[in-house]
Amino acid sequence: MTKTTQRMKALMGFIFLVLFATFPACFSQDSQFAHVLTKSTSNRFGSSAIFPVQGNVYPLGYYSVHLKIGNPPKVYDLDIDTGSDFTWVQCDAPCTGCTKPRDLLYKPKQNNLVNCVDPVCAAMHLPGKPKCKDPKEQCDYQVNYADQGSSLGVIIKDNFPLRLFNGSNIAPRLAFGCGYNQKYSGSHSPPSTAGVLGLGNGKVNIVSQLRNIGITKNVLGHCLSGRGGGFLFFGDDYVPSSGIVWTPITSNPTDKHYSSGPAELVFGGTSTGVKGLTMIFDSGSSYTYFNSQAYQATVNLIKKDLNGKPLKDAAEDKSLSICWKGKKPFKSVGDVKNYFKPLVLSFTNAKNVQLQLSPEAYLIVTRHGNVCLGILNGHEVGLGNLNLIGDISMQDKMVVYDNEKRQIGWAPANCDRLPKS
Ligand SMILES: *[C@@H]1O[C@H](CO)[C@@H](O)[C@H](O)[C@H]1NC(C)=O
Repeated sequence: MTKTTQRMKALMGFIFLVLFATFPACFSQDSQFAHVLTKSTSNRFGSSAIFPVQGNVYPLGYYSVHLKIGNPPKVYDLDIDTGSDFTWVQCDAPCTGCTKPRDLLYKPKQNNLVNCVDPVCAAMHLPGKPKCKDPKEQCDYQVNYADQGSSLGVIIKDNFPLRLFNGSNIAPRLAFGCGYNQKYSGSHSPPSTAGVLGLGNGKVNIVSQLRNIGITKNVLGHCLSGRGGGFLFFGDDYVPSSGIVWTPITSNPTDKHYSSGPAELVFGGTSTGVKGLTMIFDSGSSYTYFNSQAYQATVNLIKKDLNGKPLKDAAEDKSLSICWKGKKPFKSVGDVKNYFKPLVLSFTNAKNVQLQLSPEAYLIVTRHGNVCLGILNGHEVGLGNLNLIGDISMQDKMVVYDNEKRQIGWAPANCDRLPKS
């Protein structure tokens, strides 16, 4: 599922209101949160935290982590999404679109509700909204995803027990959403996770909150294994001191996406002539999306290259837009990789920075034994001219999002084993 936050709209309401009405959004001055930010910059940052990851690109379509929340803590599996910055869990309140059994839902307590004068509430909302009328009003949220899905609920603060790199166990109170109305887009079945871990670049991102209280640097990274699983970390202790290539984050600082570019598309060592691509790194997207021009160029070059090779169109396989079959069903991308050339995204704003996409980083083998192209046309799903690097193309790499230095870096990595701490 592609999850790219387009906007967050604050709605007033009450948590046990099933039929909610839209009231003017609550808002308190943004400067309050700015003040919190400035005050905390002087803190020193202690440590890092690491989490094992579950999931795969195919057939599941997402990677998730188990995070503990609350006191006593309960475990929630959350879809790792660097394409949005807001974390939410399914809420044990009258809930529409909750997919988990009731004992696996988050039960909000009255004293965990965030009120609308809390700086965190302001940080959730776009500037220019009316101030909240009653400071005791709760702070609601709505997050919309690029695939037309959405979550609506109330903002909560609760403990997140964490074991840090330096050996300490802590349980800071962090803000997140208790989602009591989830909508899933028609083309996708509801995710089986209890919620979304929004790690996009924004003030409400959990890592940004940990930074504001001096616990970790505002740096995060993931290593998603092509064999499934992997690991996720907050802070910079797990970032290797060498081997990573870095490219500046070029999106506007207020943009929640991690984008970089311009990049040039190279196929099998030869330039395709497609240049000026802005790439968004989005772990919430299973596949990679190119704009129409880059997509067409890629498809044409791959098809031309398959001439004379023992692969035929497999239009009957609806797993993805373009699939091919062989004489016998394939078991893994390893069986076909010799028929496909590597793709490279060459970032022209930094020297020698390339994102290598081996056949494993853009192909899947389906349960029918066909091989399908894991690069899709973003235009067809409403992404316009955006390009997204999804999970498929980030597999077996450590990808680091450094919000302190505003840069993204990656390096080939073995994601099957957690690094030692
Ligand atoms: C580990 O880091 C945390 C966060 O900075 C700090 O509060 C704690 O005192 C540190 N523990 C040790 C043992 O240094």
